[in-house]
Amino acid sequence: MTDPVLSAEKVSRSFGPIQVLFDIDFDLCPGEVHALIGENGAGKSTMMKILGGYLDPTGGGLRMDGKPVSFADHRQAEAAGVIMIHQEFNLALQLTVEQNMFLGRELTRGPFLDHAAMQAESRRLLEALNCPLDPRLRISEISVPNRQMVEIARAMGRNAKVLIMDEPTAVLTGRETEILLDQIDRLRANGTAILYTSHKLDEIARIADRITVLRDGHLVAHASAADMTPDQMAEAMVGRELSDLFPEKNVAQTETVLEVENLTVPGHVRNASFTLRRGEVLGVAGLVGAGRTELMEGVVGLRNATGTVRVMGKPLPGGSVLAAREAGLVYLTEDRKDKGLLLGKSLRENLTLLALDKFTKVRIDKAAEDRALTKAFTDFDIRAGDREMHAGNLSGGNQQKLLLAKTMLADPDIVIIDEPTRGIDIGTKQQIYQFISRLAAEGKSVIVVSSELTEVMGLANRVMVMGRGYIAGELEGDAITENAILQLAMKKQDEEAVPA
Ligand SMILES: Nc1ncnc2c1ncn2[C@@H]1O[C@H](COP(=O)(O)OP(=O)(O)OP(=O)(O)O)[C@@H](O)[C@H]1O
Ligand SMILES: [Mg+2]
Repeated sequence: MTDPVLSAEKVSRSFGPIQVLFDIDFDLCPGEVHALIGENGAGKSTMMKILGGYLDPTGGGLRMDGKPVSFADHRQAEAAGVIMIHQEFNLALQLTVEQNMFLGRELTRGPFLDHAAMQAESRRLLEALNCPLDPRLRISEISVPNRQMVEIARAMGRNAKVLIMDEPTAVLTGRETEILLDQIDRLRANGTAILYTSHKLDEIARIADRITVLRDGHLVAHASAADMTPDQMAEAMVGRELSDLFPEKNVAQTETVLEVENLTVPGHVRNASFTLRRGEVLGVAGLVGAGRTELMEGVVGLRNATGTVRVMGKPLPGGSVLAAREAGLVYLTEDRKDKGLLLGKSLRENLTLLALDKFTKVRIDKAAEDRALTKAFTDFDIRAGDREMHAGNLSGGNQQKLLLAKTMLADPDIVIIDEPTRGIDIGTKQQIYQFISRLAAEGKSVIVVSSELTEVMGLANRVMVMGRGYIAGELEGDAITENAILQLAMKKQDEEAVPA
């Protein structure tokens, strides 16, 4: 093995009185992918931010090329060749793709910004990722997966000696993930040291040379990737043996609770019709850009749409989230950062936002909110160092759990969950699957939009597949296979996309 380019010695970190990392020894070597894995809140992002110059350690220190180093901030780390891709995106929404890619290191020609050169370079980097985006678009105008691609392209363009990737594939589908992993192979071959994390353990098995496991801020295992199967990774992470990931499926009842007829969301979805029964879990699969999220946003009134949505036989007025919620229909967004949580607010305030009427008589009933928070902590196994912290300081996976708790507090009859386990560790995934299955057993109905095929197949009684803004078909019972889903998803690829 070559000498490490960047290493941590006995690194610790506390936030106020709470310690989240304990004496971690860790190193990164050129031409190697070192995976850091662990449950939600184990300390992965914190460790990565310390290595990337975004956070100081409160104990221990770093070495670069064998010499002690302490980065004043991430710019200094970047100047030394250490580049980090964040779990929660770090892009300026109002700036364009090009501006984000070159922020702080703009190319110039004489006294002027060289937009042509920056756009050409942005295009080239994105094309290497098979992502032909127009660099002149604003970040706010592009999809979540494309934002991830921009983050990755930006990092790729910087000739990193050390590349730190915090769950880069959480928002990507299988195909995009493959492209990214191929790019990582290329960087590794060129001698870049790569620190990588993901909750998708098969992906870790595919890409990692070495694996380090964190549990509650402690380093609990370190092995060569060849010596660790995904099952062993999972056990080292959660500290116990895991049973079957998916609970047994319930049998749906016959009563129809939701009827969507000829729903059209301009520019995204054309004439979608489907139904949902009581006690049913309906999976929605499709490639990125298939219109799944847009369809669901149209159903719950978050987007302008034409067509009819009936809940328990009664038509909903279009364009009103409130009316949908009052009819018992709620939607849990895939975009937890921009639409789901108020990151600068307390956990309590975030939790009770949708169900405020339950907590407001004359003024907000703080004690009741507090009880709800305690219950949410238990029901969803939310791990926060401190109950008073802002939602933005929760680990990524714990933010997702808070979002779930918030949605369920409104006690909906029908819940649409977009990417329910994005960024969730494998132990908690199992809890969320059991939770979804329990909802269905209690007679509630659930729509699960997911890019993880195993998740759709493991949970759903029926799977609806979308392609290019159309419903391509439905599968039920034994007909739900990976092949059948993929075939339906591809079926519409050659046809014309939905016009704006
Ligand atoms: N700024 C902060 N203030 C207070 N606590 C924090 C802060 N940042 C992180 N923490 C806490 O540190 C712990 C570790 O969080 P971290 O984000 O490193 O976890 P993680 O392993 O990346 O988890 P995930 O898989 O959910 O992303 C968590 O308990 C988290 O709430
Ligand atoms: Mg994290």
